[in-house]
Amino acid sequence: MTIGGRKNSAVAVIPATLLCQEPCTLENIPDIEDVHVYSAILRAMGVPISHTSEGRYTIDGGAFIPDGPPPHDLVQKIRASYYLLGALLGRYGRAEVALPGGCDIGQRPIDQHLKGFRALGAECEVEGGTVRVHTSTGLKGANIYLDVVSVGATVNIMLAAALAEGTTVIENAAKEPHIVDLANFINAAGGRVMGAGTDVIRIVGAEALSGCNHAIIFDEIQAATYMIAAVATRGNVLVENVIPKHLDPISAKLQETGALVFENGDSIRVLMDERPKALNIKTLPYPGFPTDAQQPMSALLSIAEGTSYVSETIWEGRFKHFEELKRMGTDVRIEGRTAIIEGVDKLYGASVRATDLRAGAALIVAGLVAEGDTDITGIEHIDRGYEHTTENLRALGAKLRRVE
Ligand code: EPU
Repeated sequence: MTIGGRKNSAVAVIPATLLCQEPCTLENIPDIEDVHVYSAILRAMGVPISHTSEGRYTIDGGAFIPDGPPPHDLVQKIRASYYLLGALLGRYGRAEVALPGGCDIGQRPIDQHLKGFRALGAECEVEGGTVRVHTSTGLKGANIYLDVVSVGATVNIMLAAALAEGTTVIENAAKEPHIVDLANFINAAGGRVMGAGTDVIRIVGAEALSGCNHAIIFDEIQAATYMIAAVATRGNVLVENVIPKHLDPISAKLQETGALVFENGDSIRVLMDERPKALNIKTLPYPGFPTDAQQPMSALLSIAEGTSYVSETIWEGRFKHFEELKRMGTDVRIEGRTAIIEGVDKLYGASVRATDLRAGAALIVAGLVAEGDTDITGIEHIDRGYEHTTENLRALGAKLRRVE
């Protein structure tokens, strides 16, 4: 199974192209709905964007002059549309973007984004569901300490600071590999971002950014989902085109279930031939166990031997999948932000609904191990972040079909 580009990197690098005065070519862009929506937003804004071959997009941010806000209906479909705030503020000194949509997984405040923009000298207001940011004097580098480790705030501040005058330092920054990917993109376009991947990022503002070619890193959550499915189904799956180090939190936990995990260059083989053992997980910012893999992992733990404790520390609304898993036989008790799962021998097929993207992934894992047929509705959520799901799973031997 070859793993494609990372959703959460693509949706940061695509708006970053608006900082550049020349066309940028992006490769390994995943074929997912969030990318389709982002492309539609840029097209509607008048940005020349062409999709020349699979995974390759050329975006000409230089040939674009903003004329009004991006269309609200499209902006509200995805979370990452708020990266237009940082990109447009950085390049043009102003931006107006409707509050974004995305998965309903709990409160999703943007106070740290706005705190960062204000520190750089912007005025910000949120009114009637719209965020407006502007600077009349130009952005100036600043020291910004994030009160919470936030991927989105780190990205937005990097975008705004890339063309600011002077040096910006983000402390307590997110360390996810997609932050490093964005830094690599900005640097390839002539910017100066140092320290990405650590919790202190230093950005020396550039006068202008040029065009560049950049390939998006692999999607660790897609890889994690296939690895988890391999263990749940007692299978044997090879994920290729990955950086095994980025998957350490997943590999370590899968080994705890009793699975064999072999790394070889840019691939990982996962083998399992027994009932998985129960374990405990606690979601944390990278390099901790990723919240985005918590839901598929809890489907696997539903059939593990023993009691598992799953603590979700990032999103308070990320246990909705359990209501659906219960219909399939999962024995779970929720205490605050911890789910206590008593592993059962079997799950049974049922009609279930994906309430968000990774809840959908959890239901697929559960459906693969369940006895009988599982009908999953709400698959538009899955399409937002997983590419070619039916084809990929079928190629691994799964029996499933998509009903339009
Ligand atoms: N937070 C604040 N204030 C802010 C920003 C965040 O309090 O201004 C809090 C959040 O409420 C949350 C924590 O900080 O408790 C972390 O939020 P973060 O900003 O890191 O999340 P995000 O940028 O909104 C991205 C991914 C999510 C992923 C999280 C955590 C994108 C587009 N989304 O969200 O991905 O769960 O980081 O890794 O990059 C998914 O792919 O399924 C998904 C939800």
